Order: sequence, then structure tokens, then C-alpha cells
Amino acid sequence: MPYQLSRTRIRFAVLTVLLGAGAGSPAMAEDASAMLQRLAHANELAKAGISEIAAASDAETPFATKAQLGEALYFDTNLSANRTMSCATCHDPSLAFRDPRIDVAGGAFSLGDDGKSLGDRNAPTAAYAKFSPSFHVREDGVAVGGQFWDGRAMDLAEQAGGPPLNPIEMGMPDKASVVERLREDDDYVAGFKALFGEDVWSDSDQAYAAMTKAIAAFEEDDQFAPFDSKYDWFLRGEYKMTPQEELGRVLFFSQQFTNCNTCHMLKTSPTAEGETFTNYEFHNIGVPRNVATRDVLKKDVAFTDNGLLDNAAIEDPAYRGKYKTPSLRNVAVTGPYMHNGVFADLETVVRFYNKYNSKAEINQTNPETGAPWGEPEVLETISLTELEKGDALDSQRIDAIVAFLKTLTDARYEPLLDKQETASSN
Ligand code: HEC
Ligand code: HEC
Repeated sequence: MPYQLSRTRIRFAVLTVLLGAGAGSPAMAEDASAMLQRLAHANELAKAGISEIAAASDAETPFATKAQLGEALYFDTNLSANRTMSCATCHDPSLAFRDPRIDVAGGAFSLGDDGKSLGDRNAPTAAYAKFSPSFHVREDGVAVGGQFWDGRAMDLAEQAGGPPLNPIEMGMPDKASVVERLREDDDYVAGFKALFGEDVWSDSDQAYAAMTKAIAAFEEDDQFAPFDSKYDWFLRGEYKMTPQEELGRVLFFSQQFTNCNTCHMLKTSPTAEGETFTNYEFHNIGVPRNVATRDVLKKDVAFTDNGLLDNAAIEDPAYRGKYKTPSLRNVAVTGPYMHNGVFADLETVVRFYNKYNSKAEINQTNPETGAPWGEPEVLETISLTELEKGDALDSQRIDAIVAFLKTLTDARYEPLLDKQETASSN
């Protein structure tokens, strides 16, 4: 087994123990994934005609692949100014790649490396992110894909270059200083050369770009997209949905009773494998400002997030307030919800959609606050045509949709579902 693999495996195990999350299950999944990786690696070596032992003793290449190098970088706190923060701080693999620090800002916003800065957006999961196509605007004017809520990074590599230099996240002053940090580690010095060419260190831009490519390669690893939820087993005929889950599934994919699959469906058939539950198009669904959290944090409560208009490729105000439709994989364990983390519970999200199709007073009320839902952050661009299609949902149907959404939880995160339930019933 190459040296690096054991180095990061240990780090992963420490993280899991420290956070005490989903104890047994992630460790089990980790063993399986380590085994798969080892087999794949042995296979590669066999193809190249070298034995694993020979490769392991080759001290020149501490990382066998870009993905392994990327894994080390992903967990490396040296990429932040005070050396306290890595990608995993805000996208923890043992917690479905979300920010586990729910004691900060109710989990809505992420605390930066400086210990005081907070952004305005909720950290999405980095799982299944690789399926988003490169950002582009189609001929019909519809914006699609990219990374971040506003798609402003073309792809995973461009995205990975953002956080180290973001003053409210990892806070490094410039690319050169990040590269200097990388050069402190002899394994990186050798590994970058072996994987990106001898002259990779000759200028900072080149070394920085190599770092972002390695991190992206890690995020393309199967660990980020195991497709092993109950829903996936159901598609393969190996799990029988409960009647409630099945009702939720049928409602979700129905063009008559709900509108969910207008935006949250990638494939053309509702029983296709590999569904990511988003077509990666951008919409404004009328999410209200997160006044309560911003008030507690003494942030401007009247702040308006411009969404897609913050993307440098977009100038037309008709795109203001739109966000990339998020994947719903692992959604039951990645709250709080929406670009600004305004809703704590999944059921609230489903009830929120219902406000468009049921004018009954009870459905115009946010169950978390007992008050009306609140003005949409941006009024003029809401996708009303899509949202107003469908019937009003009664409580039984709302519960069924929530039950269905829970079946989209990867096997290793199943134990987190119970935790979430215990937490919200307290
Ligand atoms: C301080 C917390 C923080 C750190 C550290 C951080 N992120 Fe993020 N990440 C976020 C937030 C918040 C967003 C959403 C920001 C936005 O949309 O404007 C995000 C978005 C993303 C996305 C986009 C997902 C999607 O569906 O669009 C990916 C992928 C990602 N981060 C990976 C990384 C990687 C890789 C690193 C390390 C180089 C990293 N993040 C470091 C908080 C963080
Ligand atoms: C018009 C397109 C559209 C339709 C229809 C739609 N969604 Fe969404 N959905 C989105 C967008 C865009 C967001 C993110 C909005 C934001 O943060 O401002 C979102 C967010 C969500 C979230 C929160 C995800 C997260 O990680 O924060 C859930 C859950 C969800 N939708 C489920 C559903 C369900 C269930 C339905 C059907 C009842 C549905 N959606 C219908 C586009 C849509």
C-alpha cells in the first residue's frame, strides 16, 4: 500500500473519532472503499507491469495518483493562514461532506480560519458535485452547471482554487504564499513533480493550478459518489420501499401532483440509475432572507444575495436571485437548507413549496417560526410557472415526500438520519 494512502486514512479515522459521528458505519464504508482503491491500484500496477512491492518501495513517488495527492491536500490545514482549516473543515466526509459546525450560526454559514468571519451562504455538500457540467448558458438563455450556488466556478478545479485565497475562508494572501506552504512538505515537492512534471514548481501559477487539479481529481473519486442509498438499491431490485416511501417517490416524479422533477431530475426516465436529482439549471424559488440568523450574528438583515448575477459571466438582471438547483442526494443529513440556510428541517422545505399551491392560511405559515414565510429575497425573477404547477399537498403527502427524500441517503450516512431525528424532536 503506498505510503500516502495510510497517511490520509489515519487522518480520516481521527476525524471520525473526534467528531464521534455515525461511529460504526463510516468506518465500515471506509474499509470497503480502501479495499476497492487498493484493488484498483494493484490493477493499474499490474497493467504497467510492476509489482506493488516495487512501487511501494519507490520513495520518489509518495502519491501514486493525482487523486491520492488531492486527498492529502483536501485534509491539509496548512492551506489556511492560521493553519486551522482545510477543505474538510467545511465539507467533512464523515458528515456527508457538509460543514459539521452547527453550533456556529445554526449551521447556516461557515466560520473562517480567522475565527470570526462568516460568509452569507450555506456550505453545500461536496458529494456528487462532480456531476455538475461546466458552467454555460444554453442557446435558449438557460444557465446550467458550474460550481457554487451561482455557478461562478467553471468546474471542480476552478472551485478548489477559491477557498484558500478567500479572505473569509482560508485567508491566504496570494497563490505564491500557498505554494510556499506546499513546498514545506517534501512529499508534496516530490509528488507534484512526479504527477505534473519536473518544472511544476517553476512558477506559482503552475504549482497552484496543479494543486487545484489534484483536489478535483480526489473529488472525482467514487467515495464522493457511492450511489448506494436505499433508492439505488431499490432501482436494482434489492430494496423494497415502504408504502410511505413509495408514495413519496411516485409523487416526486409525477408531473401531475407535484413539480419537483421539473428541476430535480437529470435523467429522462424516473427509474434510471445514476440520478443526481438536479438538472443543474438555475431558478429563483422565492426563498426568504435568513433574518433570524443574520440578526443574531449582527449581520445586515436587509442583505440581498444576487445569486446568479454574482457570476462574472452573467450581466442580465433577469438572472438575479437564481441559484443552481442542488442535488438532493444525502439531503436529509445536510441541513440547514437553501442557499442561506434559512430552513432547519426538511419537512419545512417541502411545506415551503406547498405555499405556491395551497392558499390555505396554515400553508402560508413557516412551521419553524409560526409566522408568515417572509418576503422572497428577490421578487421579480421567481419561477412561478414551474412552482405553481401541481396540486396542494396534504400532511400525509408531505410526510411521504420527506420519507422518500430520506431514501437518498448513502449507506454510510444512514446512522446520521436517526441522530437528526433525535436532535429535532428535542
Ligand atoms: C470556510 C468553509 C469552507 C471551506 C474551508 C471550503 N469550503 Fe467549499 N464551500 C463553502 C461554501 C460556503 C460554499 C458555497 C459558496 C457559494 O456558493 O458562494 C462552498 C462550495 C463548495 C463547492 C461547490 C458545491 C456545489 O454544489 O456547487 C465545492 C465542490 C467545494 N466547496 C469544495 C471545497 C474544497 C475542495 C475546498 C478546499 C480547497 C473547500 N470547499 C473549502 C465553504 C467552504
Ligand atoms: C423551479 C425549480 C424547482 C422546483 C419545481 C423544485 N425545486 Fe427544490 N430547489 C430548487 C432550487 C433552485 C433550490 C435552491 C434554492 C435556493 O437556495 O434559493 C432548491 C432547493 C431544494 C431543497 C433544499 C436543498 C438544500 O440542500 O438546501 C430541497 C430539499 C428541495 N429543493 C426539494 C424539492 C421538492 C421536494 C420539490 C417538489 C415539491 C422541489 N424541490 C421543487 C429548484 C426547484
